[in-house]
Amino acid sequence: MTTYEEIFRSSVEDREGFWLRAAGVLDWQVAPTRALDDANPPFYRWFPDGELNVAHNALDRHVDAGNGERTALVYDSPVTGTKRSYTYAELRDEVATFAGVLRDLGVEKGDRVVLYMPMVPEAAVAMLACARLGAIHSVVFGGFAAKELAVRIDDAAPKVMVSASCGIEGQRVIEYKPLLDKAIELATHKPDRNVVLQRPQAEASMGEKDVDWADAVANATPADPVTVTSTDPLYILYTSGTTGKPKGVVRDSGGYATALAWSMPNIYDVGAGEAMFTASDVGWVVGHSYIVYAPLLAGATTVLYEGKPVGTPDAGQFWRVIAENNVKSMFTAPTAFRAIKKEDPDGEFTRQYDLSNWRYLFLAGERLDPETYRWASDLLKIPVIDHWWQTETGWSIAANPAGIELLPIKPGSPTRPMPGWDVQILDADGNHCGPDSDGAIVCKLPMPPGALPTLWNDDERFLSSYMQAFDGYYLTGDGGHLDADGYVFVMGRTDDVINVAGHRLSTGGMEEVLASHADVAECAVIGVADSMKGQVPRGFVVLKAGIDGAADGYEEKLRGELVQMVRDQIGAVASLKDVAIVQGLPKTRSGKILRKTMRGIADGDDEPVPSTIESVDVLDALRPVLRKE
Ligand code: COA
Ligand code: AMP
Repeated sequence: MTTYEEIFRSSVEDREGFWLRAAGVLDWQVAPTRALDDANPPFYRWFPDGELNVAHNALDRHVDAGNGERTALVYDSPVTGTKRSYTYAELRDEVATFAGVLRDLGVEKGDRVVLYMPMVPEAAVAMLACARLGAIHSVVFGGFAAKELAVRIDDAAPKVMVSASCGIEGQRVIEYKPLLDKAIELATHKPDRNVVLQRPQAEASMGEKDVDWADAVANATPADPVTVTSTDPLYILYTSGTTGKPKGVVRDSGGYATALAWSMPNIYDVGAGEAMFTASDVGWVVGHSYIVYAPLLAGATTVLYEGKPVGTPDAGQFWRVIAENNVKSMFTAPTAFRAIKKEDPDGEFTRQYDLSNWRYLFLAGERLDPETYRWASDLLKIPVIDHWWQTETGWSIAANPAGIELLPIKPGSPTRPMPGWDVQILDADGNHCGPDSDGAIVCKLPMPPGALPTLWNDDERFLSSYMQAFDGYYLTGDGGHLDADGYVFVMGRTDDVINVAGHRLSTGGMEEVLASHADVAECAVIGVADSMKGQVPRGFVVLKAGIDGAADGYEEKLRGELVQMVRDQIGAVASLKDVAIVQGLPKTRSGKILRKTMRGIADGDDEPVPSTIESVDVLDALRPVLRKE
């Protein structure tokens, strides 16, 4: 039997052979003759002479092999009371027809299409239709406000937008079309046309440039797959950096498809004809990789779930979906399990369903706290597998390769590096840290296929964000350590990115919003520990001179305005609910706000006062506010 150690070693010692073999499971129009092009580091390119179409590999390949009647996608929507499933042949046809719609609207290879969609099958159809045409999709999470959508429209400059009239958030119907219209109004770039899926829960009023999804599909002729080179972008996915301007992570075609195809049998232990249920959102990288592309590349069944872990209508919905679809591997964020644990601490709902075919629970997106790990593994009695990755990497940096062998689980660790990931820990001076010593987690270049080749239209930012801190290494932005057995421990971000309920957000972006209020002189937003969401943001504002913060009702009014501004400009998903007026913010002598120190105090840690602090008095005055005393 091949072991993890052997496979990992082969990915390092025979990189070309390892990845060319992995790429061999795909259909290539022109098969690659070499794996890595490392002529221009750190701009690495995978399978540079290969040509393929990713949607063909996800759909047509399986139909052509005689598996068109297998179930490709199951749509399960407790919020609308809908269940629908698509065979591979049906999904291929829907995708080909929608690709025909996009083609008729002028979309060609290399054009961008921005999707602003709820969790409906049409979101996956639109993504795959872009891939079929060689067009580049960019999905924007539905929880983002119009302004965030506008920023992404300006950066990606899409020819066409695809949206829906509404999304359903728990019990609420959220109209998307007014947000889409507002975003286009705010954006400088104006897309040619908007395809809108009308949903009965809230029909949208249509304008001149709007095209009704159903009408367009009824009149379209299917489009054939367009061959692209392996290095052509499949999608752009914007993610939060340290400023308000999101980073457009570029994903290539052949490298990504190869990495995902490798991950399905080897990490998730899911093969053709088996079912995977990833409870995330198509707006996040987890949704791109494990709701849409990877399960379909593997010929498996993917479950697209429109609902919450709790409240739609109860904490038993994940179990129901698993039982009804014979799910083998489930993947979600730890926060979903904390929500279930709170509602149903004894796991009563699990007893209502037959979960006997369920083999693994995979969790990622944020740190898996040992308590949630223990609760889930005690209740479910299956391996609960933490794995660590990022929008930038597209698939796991560290995981437990259940399909190869299940390595011993250490609570608090996402286990070992996956093939091609040379994970190392460096201190601030670039020296290697020994076992158990915390430092910056970096990956020695080149990274394996799937990882970002650059940022959209911004090679400079790619270099400055990831490549310049330590020459020859990718800076993950996470801190942590390796133990003596080579297990990775990820302790948290070392920058101003926070993780709220598995959603990646920028505190810098929230600060930009707070600072734009007329009464605010300066401000800081930090992420503090939260027992349900992992982290939540807290804001601290200093008022401009002359404004009486103590005036009757002022503080409450200001807080309301600031919270609303963040909701309007970033989105409800930012979850900023807590803003305090303070007299001053602690800074270094060079004027940098000591956010890490503030965060430590707010979390109740024994936080040392940095020697570079400008005034200890300011920090002392802030302590009770931070500790909510
Ligand atoms: N469209 C519009 N609004 C959205 C949205 C969407 N797609 N997703 C979230 N929101 C809104 C929510 O309605 C909520 O609004 P509110 O403040 O008015 O109540 C706000 O954004 C915050 O959402 P969320 O952080 O998701 O909190 P919640 O209380 O609604 O739900 C959980 C908490 C734990 C149930 C939920 O976060 C969850 O299911 N998480 C799973 C993790 C996940 O999918 N992570 C993705 C990466 S793997
Ligand atoms: P995203 O790009 O939205 O996937 O978020 C990536 C970030 O989420 C990482 O940089 C980590 O900070 C965090 N993260 C993801 N998975 C894990 C994990 N298993 N353990 C700890 N942190 C994680």
